[in-house]
Amino acid sequence: MGLQPGDPHYRAYVGPPEKYDLVAAMQFNLLTFLGLREHHYLLDIGCGSLRAGRLFITYLLPGRYFGIEPNAWLIQEGIRHEVGNDLIRMKQPTFSHDSNFTLTIFNREFDFLLAHSIFSHAAEHQIRRCLSEARKVMKPTSLFAATFVQGETNYEGQNWVYPECVTYTLEHMQRLAREHGLNCTPIRWPHPNNQTWLILTRTDFPHAIPTLDVADYLDLQRQLRQCREHLARIKNHPVIKLGLKIRRVLRKI
Ligand SMILES: C[S@@+](CC[C@H](N)C(=O)[O-])C[C@H]1O[C@@H](n2cnc3c(N)ncnc32)[C@H](O)[C@@H]1O
Repeated sequence: MGLQPGDPHYRAYVGPPEKYDLVAAMQFNLLTFLGLREHHYLLDIGCGSLRAGRLFITYLLPGRYFGIEPNAWLIQEGIRHEVGNDLIRMKQPTFSHDSNFTLTIFNREFDFLLAHSIFSHAAEHQIRRCLSEARKVMKPTSLFAATFVQGETNYEGQNWVYPECVTYTLEHMQRLAREHGLNCTPIRWPHPNNQTWLILTRTDFPHAIPTLDVADYLDLQRQLRQCREHLARIKNHPVIKLGLKIRRVLRKI
């Protein structure tokens, strides 16, 4: 049997190893879609083995990527197998191994925060601590993208659960966010393990979150196809054909 999620291997520990690349691309695509640019400062909460970090570190300017990960071995393995010391020297990422969601440890604010597959394992008091710290390091326009597993019940235990997941209702997540001065909007961004993406923003500075609904996009494509077919039919109509012919003749005169 191959590696299973949670096994002590840098690719398996953070999730299904066969989806390691896909889950990285999903995070990178989402943040760049939301507006992440190379000059922004990004905080990757629970950055694991730099699954997505390897793409962000490459993309961002030096000194812009910050990661928190209590399991130091994951970052070390990520650097050894995925990133390489040359890129670390060039891009100067900053890491902390704090395990109490002390996001203020870096003494700076961030344009983007990311917590992928963190609330899906966390107890409520850990989510509260993370939200409270996040609010302190968010600028008025910051975006905080996080996932959770949406369910009908709320996990009431006190411990981090791993590699299994815990569930919360969307309403509960939104209540927790509001209590910490944050708006919490679900976004329909695909996730291969059926987690739900949330975008958290400061309640005191409402601003629009870019939206992309795949269904809307497919509908636009369908409408465009219909318009093209309609146009082709018009062009082939005998009256229009005659009109076009007359116009060509008149132009020559
Ligand atoms: C499912 S993995 C996700 C890793 C990473 N976000 C990714 O997408 O590859 C969960 C991560 O949370 C880390 N973690 C565990 N306790 C944590 C804590 N108190 N604060 C931050 N991260 C924690 C684990 O070590 C693990 O790397």
